Amino acid sequence: MDEPLLRVEHLCQYFGTNKAVDDVSFDIQKGEVFGLVGESGCGKTTTGRSIIRIYDITSGSIYFNGHRIAAGTKSYKDAISDAKKAMRGADAQRKAELEQVVRENRKNIRLARRDHTQCDKLCRPYLKQEVEARYEALISAAPPDRRDQLIRERDYDLRVAEKQRYITKIQMIFQDPIASLDPRMTVYDTIAEGLIIRGEKDKAVIDEKVYRILERVGLVREHATRYPHEFSGGQRQRIGVARAVIMNPDLIIADEPVSALDVSIQAQVINLLNELRHDLGLTVLFIAHDLSVVKYFSDRIGVMYFGRLVELATSDELFAHPLHPYTRSLLSAIPLPDPYFERTRKRLKYDPLAEHNYGSEQPIMREVVPGHFVQCSQAEYERYIKQMQGVQA
Ligand SMILES: Nc1ncnc2c1ncn2[C@@H]1O[C@H](COP(=O)(O)OP(=O)(O)OP(=O)(O)O)[C@@H](O)[C@H]1O
Ligand SMILES: [Mg+2]
Repeated sequence: MDEPLLRVEHLCQYFGTNKAVDDVSFDIQKGEVFGLVGESGCGKTTTGRSIIRIYDITSGSIYFNGHRIAAGTKSYKDAISDAKKAMRGADAQRKAELEQVVRENRKNIRLARRDHTQCDKLCRPYLKQEVEARYEALISAAPPDRRDQLIRERDYDLRVAEKQRYITKIQMIFQDPIASLDPRMTVYDTIAEGLIIRGEKDKAVIDEKVYRILERVGLVREHATRYPHEFSGGQRQRIGVARAVIMNPDLIIADEPVSALDVSIQAQVINLLNELRHDLGLTVLFIAHDLSVVKYFSDRIGVMYFGRLVELATSDELFAHPLHPYTRSLLSAIPLPDPYFERTRKRLKYDPLAEHNYGSEQPIMREVVPGHFVQCSQAEYERYIKQMQGVQA
């Protein structure tokens, strides 16, 4: 399989003793919509903010297009201190092995720090290569009278790439459209801000891009001079979408983009995201707190509970064969369109202490059927396997 667009490996983001995100791993293929769901406070936003480097992550690595854009060091530091502890009383051969472990992890720390702090500089050549590749075919296929124009455009984009931060290839649409828009900035300034920070100076280029994107998200030119408070919730979220999409990102992180909206408006914004996704070839990390919103929009879904990923599968598989009791409880909370079933619908409550017996064993993610992962103990794993064999038989 191709290198995924985004690869999150053992991501940990701790705030003091609060393990907001704890050892979360998943990847997103190019063009895919990946849904991340879970109840309030389980770490969804923190995961998104870690990916766009708002935090210096505690531990783990994040790869984008094969390049490591964020890395933490705690796991390496822990490995060093464990090795040092084990050295006490160890024989000479064991000691030598442990010293090797210490050396390797010191190197890991150095590399993690280098990638984390210098990702923009290290990735700049790739941004330029991408521009070159994009124009190469265009220029060679263009009629002679178009060629000069294309070369000028390419050189312009190359100059932009020179100053661009790599991370701008990932854009986030924020959870709260009121809090995330500056009330003193016009819609025009809000949408143009990223371009200007990126180094775009040509007023005509900025105008053209802003007006085009306004129309693309279902607003009009006349809205450009207005302020956020003059808009409805749905329109504000369209401004948020425009601000992200104008940067021409490869990945959009949409953090509960419709949760604050009326049900009637939710579908409109989801449809807009869906259209943009197809038209612009976007990849989307879609965050939501209930499964009904992500069901039709997501190719695969990850379910989070208290900072951990507890289940990951394709959308169809997750709805057809939910295995983790927390996923089952989330599904049981979705209202059914049929009034008869709705009356008899049983809501399942998830009580981790009653459900699992993890006494001496820490649960880990295990693949029960290809592509379907569940966090479980060995005994639960065997039970899930049997359960799925029953389904297939
Ligand atoms: N900057 C921060 N400093 C300290 N703790 C934080 C910070 N951000 C989040 N947390 C804590 O991390 C945990 C996860 O928060 P997060 O915002 O990621 O949850 P969420 O899944 O997005 O919830 P919601 O659905 O309500 O948006 C919570 O316990 C929260 O209090
Ligand atoms: Mg959140």
